[in-house]
Amino acid sequence: MASPLIHQLDESVHHVQAHFNGPLSVGLILGSGLGLLADDLPKAVSIPYAEIPHFAKSQVEGHAGQLVLSEIRPGFSLACMQGRFHYYEGHPMADVTYPIRVMKRLGIHTLIVTNAAGGLNPSFESGNLMLITDHLNLMGENPLRGKNTDELGPRFPDMSEAYSLTLQAMAKDSAQHLNIPLATGVYAAVSGPSYETPAEVRMLQTLGADAVGMSTVPEVTVANHMGMNVLGISCITNLAAGISPHKLSHQEVMETGQRVRGDFVRLVQTILGKIHAQTTEMTAS
Ligand code: HPA
Repeated sequence: MASPLIHQLDESVHHVQAHFNGPLSVGLILGSGLGLLADDLPKAVSIPYAEIPHFAKSQVEGHAGQLVLSEIRPGFSLACMQGRFHYYEGHPMADVTYPIRVMKRLGIHTLIVTNAAGGLNPSFESGNLMLITDHLNLMGENPLRGKNTDELGPRFPDMSEAYSLTLQAMAKDSAQHLNIPLATGVYAAVSGPSYETPAEVRMLQTLGADAVGMSTVPEVTVANHMGMNVLGISCITNLAAGISPHKLSHQEVMETGQRVRGDFVRLVQTILGKIHAQTTEMTAS
């Protein structure tokens, strides 16, 4: 008998497929201030999370977000999360990562994760984009803790290439082609919601992190569990506490996200083109 989780996932998948029927290639999670990317997608179908069976309910005022599905090229479609469930909102890790499980069961093998992050690397400036090469899970919890669902992935998944080297190379090529500077670095995830103290920022720098944020690691861990290929891009929306000459605010994070949106959208679109070309090549050979 299928596990209760598999049964729930199948119900979620059926709901999505009732609105958008066709193969899906890439999943995209849009971070704070970057959600507008989904507004420009052709012939998009949007499904509010509240309507999808077994998606978490928003813990805060307003909308948790929606899943936006779009066929961006013939036979090449995206599932875009416009908004995500954050651990700091009080969602259990299982809820934070549930949409990724659904994506995989919709047939998606490639996940692009984006986020807003504070810059720890002294060479970073607010507004830089950073390709995530690896991460530190400092959230105090792992989404895979508990009984393993063997149909989804192994008990002890390998994380030695959590961020696909092939996708990283495509992102670097795309950035170079567009003349958009793209830094590289390690993303440290903390639970939030308070921003770090300057002492915590020094600790994170000592640990080898280049950027800090409150998301991404749960989704990427679960994606790796299921054997998905992951690409991560951070928008450095502010310099971390103690490095920044002023106090941190959510407003600054949102404003920077909006300021770099143009570059960010062009970069993701170019990467998607490369993924599409590679998928077509693989199908043809
Ligand atoms: N710290 C943690 N999370 C963040 C930050 C930060 O400075 N900026 C955007 N998300």
